[in-house]
Amino acid sequence: MIDLKDVTKSYGKGRPAVNHVNLHVEQGEFVFVTGLSGSGKSTLIKLLLKELDSTGGSITVAGERLETMKHRRVSKYRRKLGVVFQDFRLLKDRNVYENVAFAQRVIGRPTRVIRKRVPEVLQEVGLAGKYKSLPDELSGGEQQRVALARAIVNRPDILLADEPTGNLDPKTSDEIMALLEQINGRGTTVLVVTHNKEIVNAMKKRVVTMHDGVIVSDEEKGEYHEA
Ligand SMILES: Nc1ncnc2c1ncn2[C@@H]1O[C@H](COP(=O)(O)OP(=O)(O)OP(=O)(O)O)[C@@H](O)[C@H]1O
Ligand SMILES: [Mg+2]
Repeated sequence: MIDLKDVTKSYGKGRPAVNHVNLHVEQGEFVFVTGLSGSGKSTLIKLLLKELDSTGGSITVAGERLETMKHRRVSKYRRKLGVVFQDFRLLKDRNVYENVAFAQRVIGRPTRVIRKRVPEVLQEVGLAGKYKSLPDELSGGEQQRVALARAIVNRPDILLADEPTGNLDPKTSDEIMALLEQINGRGTTVLVVTHNKEIVNAMKKRVVTMHDGVIVSDEEKGEYHEA
């Protein structure tokens, strides 16, 4: 599902942010990516989203080669991916329903389909009954649930999460992780960047650890390493 071969990303002079990385993730896997601040985790996510282009190597995601992808293909490609961030990135002036429906409107889904799908996905993330709330009227955990609903509403092959629990308390973090696991259980490949040692050690998933742009360990049912 995700295949990086000898991938390098340099932002300029100095050491590359991602440095000759090889990584293979099968369909349906759940993978944590950990590592110190500045180790290249977010850069890796941006490469997968094709928000950045690599400066070396090759990336294949969901059957598509990113280096040779035509510009006009990129938005279609991104529909195969769902993404959530630490800061939720919701539309502040739109209610919960609209935040999720929006992702469907931009890809031209008929209103009839949207009206059916949005409640389904809000139910799935445990937010049925909050349709009309504005983001500011929700707790952090609830806002992240909305972001997750939006990320999965189009049934992506892959869900990318960059520090999804970075702004949440431990209990809420556990709930969000349980939700990610549930989404993974339905077949979505999930890649989660996190600094949350307790969660990583509790969940017994594959753990990829980065340091200075390099993958320094990659373990099945792994543990959190400081670097
Ligand atoms: N737009 C940019 N321009 C120049 N350098 C950048 C840019 N974005 C990131 N970098 C550098 O690339 C390296 C990796 O950054 P990246 O954001 O990928 O790290 P990270 O592992 O996500 O860190 P954190 O845990 O703090 O989020 C860092 O040295 C950073 O300063
Ligand atoms: Mg980061």
